[in-house]
Amino acid sequence: MNLLTFLLFLSLVVFFIIYGFMMNRHWQKMVKEKSELVKETEAQLIQMEKMASLGTLAAGIAHEINNPLGFLISNLETMHDYAGDIEKGRGDAVKIKELDEITKESLEGAQRIKKIVQDLRTFSRKSELQHVSVDINQILESTLSIVWNEIKYKVDVIKDYQAKTNIYSDPTELSQVFLNLLINASQAIGDKGSITLSTWQNDEDIFIRVSDTGCGISQEVLPKIFDPFFTTNRKGTGLGLSVSYNIVKKYNGDIRVQSTVGEGTSFTVRLPKELSEEDKRA
Ligand SMILES: Nc1ncnc2c1ncn2[C@@H]1O[C@H](COP(=O)(O)OP(=O)(O)OP(=O)(O)O)[C@@H](O)[C@H]1O
Ligand SMILES: [Mg+2]
Repeated sequence: MNLLTFLLFLSLVVFFIIYGFMMNRHWQKMVKEKSELVKETEAQLIQMEKMASLGTLAAGIAHEINNPLGFLISNLETMHDYAGDIEKGRGDAVKIKELDEITKESLEGAQRIKKIVQDLRTFSRKSELQHVSVDINQILESTLSIVWNEIKYKVDVIKDYQAKTNIYSDPTELSQVFLNLLINASQAIGDKGSITLSTWQNDEDIFIRVSDTGCGISQEVLPKIFDPFFTTNRKGTGLGLSVSYNIVKKYNGDIRVQSTVGEGTSFTVRLPKELSEEDKRA
């Protein structure tokens, strides 16, 4: 190797060393920039998730308060009309008796709103969520008793409770899910029909099924039923199923639906038997 070749070789080595050093600094800078971007995106995602749960909560509040508020307003309007009639001397005994009933009903509505607001105050304080060991069959029974008066004349209820294991969860949240499913089932039944409530379990999960012999859901409507504000019901807000879905998802479960138009619909809720330690602490 002559001197010229050696110098050429040496300059090449020096070039690659300098090039490598510069590239290294360039990559380090890029990696730093990228990891900052990842951190920023992560923060944005957490913020978005917080906003989404806030939205879910707001949706729940609207849904729960809307019904009693609706009949409270309508009752107050009737009372206002009756008061006008009575003032003009057109009030009769029937109207006065009705006024008594309307006042009682309105008071019940107002009490319900008060209770919902109280419940929500508890709900908003995470530590006060009552995660206890619950018997799913018992929750189903107490939820049924809430709607019993409204549905007893048109619906036969068939029960098949096979689930044995208690699960660790908040009973009021689960009750809200079952209430929404029961109300939907009864609304889907026209004159007369039946609702079957069944529970069972396998090694990992507990299943709760609410089946009805109602109108069924068409293929076009089916993909939309869990969307917030989707409703085919003139008086509905369309939040029942989306609120229920979010609650069940929080427990790492899911809700499945099977339906045939003219025959009926089945909603099946799956809840894991063992909630993770993290869930238990929530
Ligand atoms: N059991 C069922 N049978 C037939 N259709 C159903 C049933 N459950 C839900 N649906 C359909 O899904 C839609 C959405 O249900 P969801 O409970 O979210 O809202 P909603 O019942 O319309 O109103 P809300 O629950 O707010 O009073 C209903 O409007 C109805 O079209
Ligand atoms: Mg509903």
